[in-house]
Amino acid sequence: MISEYQARCQARVDAALDALFVAPRPELTRIYQAMRYSVVNGGKRVRPLLAYAACEALGGDIARADGAACAVELIHAYSLVHDDLPAMDDDDLRRGQPTTHIAFDEACAILAGDGLQALAFEVLGDAVRNPQDVDTRLAMVTALARAAGSAGMVGGQAIDLESVGRKIDQAALENMHRHKTGALIEASVRLGALASGNADTTRLDALSHYAKAIGLAFQVQDDILDVESDTATLGKTQGKDEANDKPTYPALLGLDAAKAYALGLRDQALAALEGFDANAEPLRQLARYIVERRS
Ligand code: IPE
Ligand code: IPE
Ligand code: MG
Ligand code: MG
Ligand code: MG
Repeated sequence: MISEYQARCQARVDAALDALFVAPRPELTRIYQAMRYSVVNGGKRVRPLLAYAACEALGGDIARADGAACAVELIHAYSLVHDDLPAMDDDDLRRGQPTTHIAFDEACAILAGDGLQALAFEVLGDAVRNPQDVDTRLAMVTALARAAGSAGMVGGQAIDLESVGRKIDQAALENMHRHKTGALIEASVRLGALASGNADTTRLDALSHYAKAIGLAFQVQDDILDVESDTATLGKTQGKDEANDKPTYPALLGLDAAKAYALGLRDQALAALEGFDANAEPLRQLARYIVERRS
């Protein structure tokens, strides 16, 4: 289901990520191994693909978005390492392999996540890895920090943990998903747009509408797959949301209504791109992929 364009962008970001994990001193070998293990392990790279596609939608050369693509995936990978810890979702399988705290140990997984988060901002600030002017680099750092932190992903994860075993209504569930998953997806699109060097307020607003819709759709589909996929396809343990008593869209609305909701969000995302030309085709493809994917 991944197109040739998507495969090319995946290979591109994989090469850039791979180059980041070389221990500068022998005593740092283990922490670098744990960080590499958590990133260079076959993730779908949806957030980097969104960064590249947003850059392209504004007519930018995708090489300008390598820094953005790496940074958003580093934050995502860190969020997964911590999400899987025993104190959080307590998962032992991720991307088809033992989770970082199982393959290494809990303390090492916490530190690997911390290290990945810091590395994301190091990459964005670095004029070689992220060749933008200083103002653009600062705007990228600020946007990613806001999306990753307590007003974004971290805030959403806090709401998620506080909601375990409780019945929450659709507005509260939407708010949780927009924070824990939507914020970083929106930042991925925004950083890619900023990297193009061609971002204007009107088109940034349209891209923000697109990203808000697919950001929510992404987590709705993740909830759906947790119910109806299988562990081998997912590369993570199927059925964990129900086992952990998490509020999800299928639990609240039922599977059919959750699927219809995701498709409606896809249509909203496509409508937001109506004023864009053929350069936005990769973004359109990604909107469809996000709700059609099986893993
Ligand atoms: C899983 O994200 C966690 C969510 C935010 C729903 P992905 O489905 O993008 O996971 P990978 O990166 O492909 O492993
Ligand atoms: C994770 O949501 C969101 C993050 C910020 C990591 P989930 O807990 O549903 O992600 P999976 O299903 O474990 O990948
Ligand atoms: Mg979770
Ligand atoms: Mg989880
Ligand atoms: Mg999930």
